[in-house]
Formats: sequence, structure tokens, C-alpha cells
Amino acid sequence: MNYKIVPLIYEEEINNRISEMAECISRDYAGQDIHMICVLKGGAFFMCELAKKINQDINVTIDFMAASSYGSETHSSGNVRIVKDLDESIEGKNVIITEDIIDSGRTLKSLTELLWNRKPASLEVCTLLDKPDRRVVDMVVKYTCFTIPDKFVVGYGLDYDQKYRNLPYIGAVEFE
Ligand code: IMP
Ligand code: MG
Repeated sequence: MNYKIVPLIYEEEINNRISEMAECISRDYAGQDIHMICVLKGGAFFMCELAKKINQDINVTIDFMAASSYGSETHSSGNVRIVKDLDESIEGKNVIITEDIIDSGRTLKSLTELLWNRKPASLEVCTLLDKPDRRVVDMVVKYTCFTIPDKFVVGYGLDYDQKYRNLPYIGAVEFE
């Protein structure tokens, strides 16, 4: 299938927005520690940038997990599978899950349910992108950097068939 990638959000805009988000989170968590959970692989680029910008008076620890709801297609299968679990306990911690994108919301819904059972002190979600038009489950997200229309996007961690994660901007895949 032929397609092209059309820039949607430029690198500078993303970096500025992540700085704003980091300031906001730094204010909200002043005097506390933050345990960031990256949802692999897509959330990795975003979490690294966000973590670097958090106020340095706050202790930030990180951990990784992987869930899968997509194959190489552009539509969610609806099945969420934990592919890699966390290394450390989250009990009593202020957890922020960092995600690349919330689409149907199924992945985050099952992740947050699973993580709440492990008794964190608090649990919030910070996402780079949100596609609210595609939501099929109820999902409240505290921190959203960009709300985007219903387009399939790549870059800044997001892939199409595992490619384009390394693009420093967000682009929409337009099929011809
Ligand atoms: P959800 O469970 O439908 O919310 O799907 C979330 C996951 O689907 C994200 O973490 C991405 O891995 C993937 N995804 C959803 N929309 C896109 C997109 O536009 N581009 C790339 N991956 C996407
Ligand atoms: Mg993902």
C-alpha cells in the first residue's frame, strides 16, 4: 500500500509542550517523589524527555512495562496482553504512567486496573497524544499534551509496522 507521512506536530512544538507538562507535574508533585512507568515501546521517547524536564528537587524513578493490543495493523484488536511486567513494586508510590497515545483506551484501562491492585499511593496517566474520537472505554487522563483528530500517526515513539519511531516529529500516515 502506498502512503506518505505528512507532518502534524513539529519537534519544537512537542518540546515546548513537554516542558509545560513537566512544569505542571513538578508543581503538582512538589515535595513528593515520582515513579514513572513507561509503556513500551512507544512511550519511551516521551518519558525520557518528560523525566529530564521534571524539577530536579523531585526524586524521579523509572520502570518499564509492555502491553500489546496492536499487531502490524492500524486497528486495535481489543486484546491487551502484558508482554513485559515491571521490575519493581509500586506499593505506596506516586505512579505516573507515560503513554505515547490513547486511542480506544483499552490498553490504559486494563493497565490502570492492574496497577491499582498493586496499591500505589497515587496513579495518574500522562500521554503525549490523545485521540478522543476513537475512545470505546471510559478513561480519565489527567495529563494530555496534544489532542489530535482520528488519524493514524507515527514518530516520537509511535510506529507503523515498527518503523518511524525515531522521527523527531509527529506525522500522519496518509494512504493513497
Ligand atoms: P488503545 O488500547 O486502543 O488505546 O491503543 C493504544 C496503543 O495503540 C498505543 O499505545 C499505540 O501503541 C497504538 N496506537 C494507537 N493509535 C496509534 C497511532 O495513530 N499510531 C501508532 N500507534 C497507535
Ligand atoms: Mg503504546
